[in-house]
Amino acid sequence: MNLEKIVCNCMSVTSGMIKDAVDAGARTLEEVQNATGAGTVCGACLEDVERLVEYFVSENGSQ
Ligand code: FES
Repeated sequence: MNLEKIVCNCMSVTSGMIKDAVDAGARTLEEVQNATGAGTVCGACLEDVERLVEYFVSENGSQ
């Protein structure tokens, strides 16, 4: 996965920033939105952001 890829254009949030938010303890779309601002402007990226949150959360296992 390209962690430099912009997922949310409005807030210039990359995949890597979503991963960092999950690594820092965010577990839901809402928590990642609060941490990064992703998906809080036009909402067009919400599906992609949610998919990445689920991906990184599952990658983190049960920790
Ligand atoms: S592209 Fe993410 S809120 Fe607009």
